[in-house]
Amino acid sequence: MRKTVSPRTYRVESFGCQMNVYDGERMAEMLDREGIAPAADGEDADLVVLNTCHIREKASEKVYSRIGRLTKGRSDNPPLIAVAGCVAQAEGEEIMSRSDAVSMVVGPQAYHRLPAMLERAIGGLRTTDTDMPADAKFAALPARRKSAPSAFLTIQEGCDKFCTYCVVPYTRGAEISRPFSALVDEAKKLVEVGAKEITLLGQNVSAWSGEDAKGRAIGMAGLIRALAQIPELSRIRYMTSHPADMDDALIAAHGEVAKLMPFLHLPVQSGNDRVLKAMNRSHTADSYLRLLDRFRAARPDLALSGDFIVGFPRETDAEFEDTLKIVDAVGYAQAYSFKYSPRPGTPAADMDGQVATEVMDERLQRLQAALGRDQLAFNAASVGKTCDVLVDRTGKYPGQMLGKSPWLQSVHFTGDAQIGDLVRVELLEAMGSSLGGRLV
Ligand code: 5AD
Ligand code: SF4
Repeated sequence: MRKTVSPRTYRVESFGCQMNVYDGERMAEMLDREGIAPAADGEDADLVVLNTCHIREKASEKVYSRIGRLTKGRSDNPPLIAVAGCVAQAEGEEIMSRSDAVSMVVGPQAYHRLPAMLERAIGGLRTTDTDMPADAKFAALPARRKSAPSAFLTIQEGCDKFCTYCVVPYTRGAEISRPFSALVDEAKKLVEVGAKEITLLGQNVSAWSGEDAKGRAIGMAGLIRALAQIPELSRIRYMTSHPADMDDALIAAHGEVAKLMPFLHLPVQSGNDRVLKAMNRSHTADSYLRLLDRFRAARPDLALSGDFIVGFPRETDAEFEDTLKIVDAVGYAQAYSFKYSPRPGTPAADMDGQVATEVMDERLQRLQAALGRDQLAFNAASVGKTCDVLVDRTGKYPGQMLGKSPWLQSVHFTGDAQIGDLVRVELLEAMGSSLGGRLV
């Protein structure tokens, strides 16, 4: 490969989950520290990091087509391209051999080595780094220098659950928890530079474990209680959890820690016990519902969110109906739903009875109609309430501001407020995915 001049501008493009958003921000901070500036909107960046997601369909095709578009018409001044994230982890070598335009492939556990790889790339050398050393990267990252009012903080990575459809245990590796003191430090720093709300992230976040400042073993609840002591931090959230790791202490925290928002994202995936077993989920429909009852007893106004997969191999119509039943039983405030997508290397990809696309389409439509109806009902039930809204953006119309309610609803209102303010808003009207209100 030919040598390049040092890049002056970069762009990080993140796809997929919030953990990728967090990783993307950290990579951007690293590049800032290298003296490279973020490219302006519409500008051709000298360095592009594609921070990819592998969880569902067509992930790698998307990466190749994006590379094609990035290099088109730029043969005399092509960008340096790094492929990061879960596609890099899963298909690193293949990307290198298929695309000359890529000079760096960096897995999710190795991106702290991006500056060194960049130096090699400028010298004309291509590098693949998909090692998975536990926890090395966080320690090597620079301190936080800016934050939106609502910040992400990755506290745990990887997953040991091995749901049969899921690629995460292979791309993100075994569960690791970041140390307590590092998390408290990073949270304080985020608050210092503007965060009012922190969402604790992990593929299996409630499996977090650590030792507090006195060396005592603690779990998520202990971490949440410690972070709630940060005076300027107003709100704490967390996602994503697995039903198996929700303990009494965490349930109690929902009732007792005022800063912990009344919202729980707890994927169920299916409402049918045979399908759940084939998915290697360790819960049944009934044990999931009983768990939610305990959370609701601790925090009666808890808003619930979930993930669903339709068309898992051999799922019958009757089994799918059970998913609609559990949706009815829970009354989700919001949810994500997906068609099953065979992921290479996962057990379910080789199972008999893959479900036809048309059947999946039809099931997904029915499920989404039910979820949409429940979301609207949840929003409609909020009308008349007055609540805190954390303002995070300006709206489309002059004077309009947008923010989030405690239940993670988008709320828009017109009035005198700044991004980062926590304001009291009376909720006046409900739409499918948002609410309108007025300042009080
Ligand atoms: N196909 C479809 N959906 C999937 N998810 C994970 N793997 C797959 C797959 N192979 C969904 C699950 C998970 C969410 C992050 O993505 O619902 O909770
Ligand atoms: Fe994937 Fe979540 Fe199951 Fe872990 S718990 S294997 S991340 S779906």
